[in-house]
Amino acid sequence: MSPAAPGAATLPAPGWSPDSWRRLPARQLPDFEDAAHLSRVEARLRGYPPLVFAGEARALQAELAAVAEGRAFLLQGGDCAESFAEFHPDTIRDSLRVLLQMAVVLIFGAGTSVVKVGRLAGQFAKPRSSPVERQGEVELPSYRGDIVNALDFTLAARRPDPERQLQAYAQAAATLNLVRAFTEGGYAALSRVHDWYLGFVGETPQARLYQDAAARISEALGFMAACGVSGDSTPAVARTRVYTSHEALLLGFEEAMTRVDSTSGAWYNTAGHLVWVGDRTRDPAEAHVEYLRGIANPLGLKAGPSLDPDGFVRLCDALDPRREPGRLTVITRFGQDGVARHLPPLLRAARREGRRLVWACDPMHGNTVTSDSGLKTRRFERILGEVEGFFAAHAAEGTHPGGLHVEMTGQDVTECTGGSGDASDAGLPARYRTHCDPRLNAAQSLELAFLLADRLRRMRRTA
Ligand code: PEP
Ligand code: CO
Repeated sequence: MSPAAPGAATLPAPGWSPDSWRRLPARQLPDFEDAAHLSRVEARLRGYPPLVFAGEARALQAELAAVAEGRAFLLQGGDCAESFAEFHPDTIRDSLRVLLQMAVVLIFGAGTSVVKVGRLAGQFAKPRSSPVERQGEVELPSYRGDIVNALDFTLAARRPDPERQLQAYAQAAATLNLVRAFTEGGYAALSRVHDWYLGFVGETPQARLYQDAAARISEALGFMAACGVSGDSTPAVARTRVYTSHEALLLGFEEAMTRVDSTSGAWYNTAGHLVWVGDRTRDPAEAHVEYLRGIANPLGLKAGPSLDPDGFVRLCDALDPRREPGRLTVITRFGQDGVARHLPPLLRAARREGRRLVWACDPMHGNTVTSDSGLKTRRFERILGEVEGFFAAHAAEGTHPGGLHVEMTGQDVTECTGGSGDASDAGLPARYRTHCDPRLNAAQSLELAFLLADRLRRMRRTA
């Protein structure tokens, strides 16, 4: 079968339609007070242009098929929650820069090709562990992401407002437009590898390592140009693809962005290339899995400690019944202490079922703690610990540790602690800007990429 196998996706899933999820129980959806207002907004969204195209989603699936076969590595990263407040061209450029830098470190350091996917241009809606938030004597509805309500702790701010979906759409469109301009207009060309340098990473060891790698890449490009391989002759040198992804959580919005592809006749979510189902909404009998099973995009499945092998197999059958290469990426998030216990049984279940999947490690969501200051944080060393455990489990089972899924930003935030800069708990309030979970800053992201490249290189050597 060809990797993309797009033909298979043309079969409509039995009993599925873009709104068939509405017949099933759904978790984590906001209570909108005015149903008519919500319907009007969804009707408007249905008339808005697609943000991504079916052919692009198929191209991503073909790239992910290479990851499933062990020939490439998936790098997926970006905000926990994009926010209206942080929307700025510099923020987008800087996040993209760090993603490109991380990819270069992996390509150059580990000799692997890298599939780049941003948690951006649509990553707005958030699942919450509790529907309410209490501060002192006051209890209000939880913040559910800027596409639903606002972060301020007032009743007015926390009221779900459908109009926000239109603003989220506009922000996603503008973000994606800038990403496309950067990646296709030459900025992401390998020859610009020095330009992605971020001043504020400063004199850290990672900055020096990066400059060193960049100098060697430039040298290699000079050699290749002399041999006749340049951006003019080889598109891969001049351009790169960065795909978009988000959690398909706010199903009314996702439904409105679901369109038939005229080429294949299949339904695609046109708000992102890849969409995933979160750890809290992945019940196969409920609405979120129902929605996802019918769209032809490549899908992600978040797998936390409560997912047992039987439940996992049921989800694979529901989300990838035709066993299409690259269709399903399992994003595991067990925490440093849970990965050795929870990951191997899933790897074995996949083997028993004869499934070739993309396995990506999300070392963020199982390692969140509340610091003494009351802010949510994650320790760099624990993030690294889960990545190490992920590699060890795959090495023991003979499977491909296919990717990394991180919450990161190009900004110099103080949200995660540790790393070679030794960010401390006490320093968290200085530049704590996330609307939801703590992100790796630029220096920490780069440090993680270098450590990962090292790990991948060692793995290749032993193989
Ligand atoms: C997330 O990725 O932001 C998230 C909420 O993850 P999970 O569903 O794995 O908890
Ligand atoms: Co998060």
